Amino acid sequence: MADIKKTWYKEMCVYQIWTRSFCDSNGDGIGDLPGVYSKLDYLKELGVDGIWFSPIYPTPNADYGYDISDYRNINPEFGTLDDFKKILEGAHERGMRVFMDLVVNHTSDEHEWFKESAKSVDNPYHDYYIWRKGKGNRPPNNWLSTFEGGAWEYNPDIDEYYLHVFAKKQPDLNMDNPKVRQEVKDIMRYWLDMGVDGFREDVITFISKREGLPDGIPLPVATGVEHYKHGPHLEEYLDEFKRDVYDHYDCFTVGEGPMSDIKMAKDFVTEGPNQKLNMMISFEHMNANCFMVDWVKTPFNLIKLKSTLSKWQYGLYGKGWNCLYIENHDHARIIERYGNINYRVESGKMLAAMYFLLCGTPFIYQGQEIGMTNILLDKLSDCKDVMTFNNWRIFKKLGYSEKRFLKLAKDVSRENSRTPVQWSEAENAGFTTGKPWFNINPNYKEINVEDDLKNPDSILNFYKKLIKLRKENEVLIYGKYKEYDHLNPFLYTYERVLGNDRVLVVCSFKEGSVRFKAPKGYDLSKGELVLSNYSDNKIVNNGFVTKPYEVRVYMFK
Ligand code: GLC
Ligand code: CA
Repeated sequence: MADIKKTWYKEMCVYQIWTRSFCDSNGDGIGDLPGVYSKLDYLKELGVDGIWFSPIYPTPNADYGYDISDYRNINPEFGTLDDFKKILEGAHERGMRVFMDLVVNHTSDEHEWFKESAKSVDNPYHDYYIWRKGKGNRPPNNWLSTFEGGAWEYNPDIDEYYLHVFAKKQPDLNMDNPKVRQEVKDIMRYWLDMGVDGFREDVITFISKREGLPDGIPLPVATGVEHYKHGPHLEEYLDEFKRDVYDHYDCFTVGEGPMSDIKMAKDFVTEGPNQKLNMMISFEHMNANCFMVDWVKTPFNLIKLKSTLSKWQYGLYGKGWNCLYIENHDHARIIERYGNINYRVESGKMLAAMYFLLCGTPFIYQGQEIGMTNILLDKLSDCKDVMTFNNWRIFKKLGYSEKRFLKLAKDVSRENSRTPVQWSEAENAGFTTGKPWFNINPNYKEINVEDDLKNPDSILNFYKKLIKLRKENEVLIYGKYKEYDHLNPFLYTYERVLGNDRVLVVCSFKEGSVRFKAPKGYDLSKGELVLSNYSDNKIVNNGFVTKPYEVRVYMFK
């Protein structure tokens, strides 16, 4: 058995907060830090060990905080540095850690550095960004951004273009400039010295661009990505951050790696002298109902999901560590992707157990714990996300009407995960006493925290059980993973084994019934059923016939 190094970040479970939609304390309709503070006990009760804040720094909100205009302060819409310090203290007192989002592939165009850099080609900050001369009347190359058409924006005052691989208001930093890397390290230290416990690093794998910025293979969005999704100096820069900063703190890092594969992840998270990150956020398992990007929908394919999860589970076991998630602020709600809205509670619980009991550190996104669902927006002007507007531009060309587009957005857009958290059946779901900044899902009277807390069979209480179960059983943290019955298109069956402890997890992704038979070596009657989403759990012939989206977890000691 591989010898796994035990450490706190492998044992924790993290809750992600997207503050704007979490809880509003002052009635201006925008979630804020005092609102978060008021829910610390709720989070503690849930059982989580840490909070990851999506960016809470000053921002013009072109991408709701992923466009930072000041790395050392708090968005005034959310509160003050003192409010943040109060949360830090309050979380630490409750035994919870706090992680910040570090967005250093780009800044906001309203950041002082960028404003300076745009003043003249010999301004000391000019080389903080990627400025180039055009080719005649055309941009320096054919790259497209992920969010807004071309990846270059022309500045007539200095007759140069700047690169933005996301929105226009998100100019890419020039990480090849040692001064920029110094700034980044100073920002890291600033927050770590304040007491922050680590970072989720936004698109960190994009920070190095291929020399010469060559043309890319044409794509509908993000043309050129092959030249920066794993650029030539990425490893070197991550090593530098680790050597100069992280190695001097008891902190942890999880790097977002869009389009990363298991080979790349192994290079980055394998423990030892060359380790660059503690974990990597992969997107691959989020593609089981789409092709490459969420907006190109395909029917849900369980075998695809299982193949990806197993690849990462086998690939990293004993070497590095997985980051486990099924929701965040960049995807539609999972029940409508991999589950079934007609079996919201059943499939919500099944999906929870499915990913939570894999080997890795589980992350829960706000609202996921009560099974929040997607929202159908009535008109384009109700939409808030730059990515939705970019896709509207593309889909309009394909002949989509606004109505048809909004129907698609309901299944795939990031709007879905950004509706305010539904705390109760009070007006505005208890999120605000004022006018909410964004539509609240009209189903808040049926789906809300207050009801879920009262109901022992709620999704929320299922998450609590899951968190507790994982905490109390090392086999669920460090145990070895093995998948069974891979070709079964409806059932996902896997085991976790540590010493003499064995756990068998059986998840049905089907509304109709499927016959499950325990794998060789298992006698279900000898196991203890530690978790399930139905009350009737009969065993027939060392197996059972599944109910819709049934999950059962058996433990053998
Ligand atoms: C990451 C973030 C996403 C953001 C993008 C650009 O993918 O998770 O929300 O829009 O980076 O910063
Ligand atoms: Ca507020």
